[in-house]
Amino acid sequence: MSQLKQMSHNDNSAPSTPGKFKIEKSPYFNRTRWHSSLAKLTLWSFAFLAVILIFFLRSPSSSASLPTDPSRRSLRTYNWGGSAWEKRVRSSARVRSRNGMTVLVTGAAGFVGTHVASALKRRGDGVLGLDSFNDYYDPSLKRARQALLERTGVYIVEGDINDEALLRKLFEVVPFTHVMHLAAQAGVRYAMENPGSYVHSNIAGFVNLLEVCKSLNPQPAIVWASSSSVYGLNTKVPFSERDRTDQPASLYAATKKAGEEIAHTYNHIYGLSLTGLRFFTVYGPWGRPDMAYFFFTKDILKGKPIPVFEAANHGTVARDFTYIDDIVRGCLGALDTAEKSTGSGGKKKGPAQLRVFNLGNTSPVPVSELVSILERLLKVKAKRNIMRLPRNGDVQFTHANISYAQRELGYKPTTDLQTGLKKFVRWYLNYYSGGKKAVE
Ligand SMILES: NC(=O)c1ccc[n+]([C@@H]2O[C@H](COP(=O)([O-])OP(=O)(O)OC[C@H]3O[C@@H](n4cnc5c(N)ncnc54)[C@H](O)[C@@H]3O)[C@@H](O)[C@H]2O)c1
Repeated sequence: MSQLKQMSHNDNSAPSTPGKFKIEKSPYFNRTRWHSSLAKLTLWSFAFLAVILIFFLRSPSSSASLPTDPSRRSLRTYNWGGSAWEKRVRSSARVRSRNGMTVLVTGAAGFVGTHVASALKRRGDGVLGLDSFNDYYDPSLKRARQALLERTGVYIVEGDINDEALLRKLFEVVPFTHVMHLAAQAGVRYAMENPGSYVHSNIAGFVNLLEVCKSLNPQPAIVWASSSSVYGLNTKVPFSERDRTDQPASLYAATKKAGEEIAHTYNHIYGLSLTGLRFFTVYGPWGRPDMAYFFFTKDILKGKPIPVFEAANHGTVARDFTYIDDIVRGCLGALDTAEKSTGSGGKKKGPAQLRVFNLGNTSPVPVSELVSILERLLKVKAKRNIMRLPRNGDVQFTHANISYAQRELGYKPTTDLQTGLKKFVRWYLNYYSGGKKAVE
């Protein structure tokens, strides 16, 4: 009875949290309460854990979803995995020519990636694309390139090169012999706005790709895009691969230079075969809207003024504009001459190939001349806004010495700026004519 009294008393004054139980006043009652609360707590904990477990097991990329992996925190959730997906991946990567290679093309929805992927497919190689479809520029253009590639039989997996589980899965489904690595955060001026995106894609993403490749057996050979921007403030022209590249003028250039050093490390430690290609201002159909030739065309047609830069003392700003088809031939030449990696499963077995090539046109054209060509092709006079070249990444002059690529890759650019721009303008007018159909 006294116990009952005690119980009711304690019931009324029961604290709301277990930690506040006054055990010394009523040992019997408090122990019972404590046990029942503990049982409830355990039950709820199990229920909570079960819900989390079910959530991860149901996720299509469950193997990729380890919540403790910090590298995944910044990744969007992409939908990949499953037998239908694997079938699509395999079919896209199927080789259709004798001695063909199987190539994983990263950045395949990008300007250069689309052209390289379709050229490889056309000659019978097995090709699979990978792209994050980020919104650095209009993603609808990337989707249109994706549709174009789909028609040639190339599937682009939507995902980030930082996603280690996805990369491992791709190599498990298809043992790629080569990687054509073009995924990157491009653009020089955007680095002041979003520096993190350059570190994410050009450094962390590249390292992640190399980490996966080094651990494979066999390891693939890797050809990847560096940039002419690594020459930075170098004034010796034409730029040769032996010139200094330790004065980058932008964060973009610095991340590409870092990529070259990182490539050296993975070649040295793990025996990965690595070829870096320093592209010089690539232009052409399906190009990048953030590049001058592209937005000049758009703004000239709209009657908007365009900024035409000049250096100090009215110095000429010029670029070694290189037509996309020439770049594609250089990329294929690099893939064809890439030797096998020598390591396996993370262990080096012998020295491996390490190369860096300039891929340019060897004939720089002043930007003012680029504008004049566009005026003639568009039959519209441009409103030129002559401005001093800002010191935010752009350099005054680029000019490639391509003799090394000529010798080793058989690289020989054949398209001059007038001819190449004519093809670009034809594509542009067609694509943006409303029907969104391309000429090619
Ligand atoms: N176009 C040029 O003039 C030029 C010059 C020098 C170097 N490059 C280099 O050539 C390569 C291709 O350039 P582009 O002009 O085709 O650029 P692009 O921006 O059109 O293509 C790059 C593609 O990579 C994708 N991407 C970016 N980060 C990614 C990530 N983390 N994971 C997966 N995909 C990602 C983007 O969505 C994009 O579709 C880049 O490495 C670029 O730095 C280009």
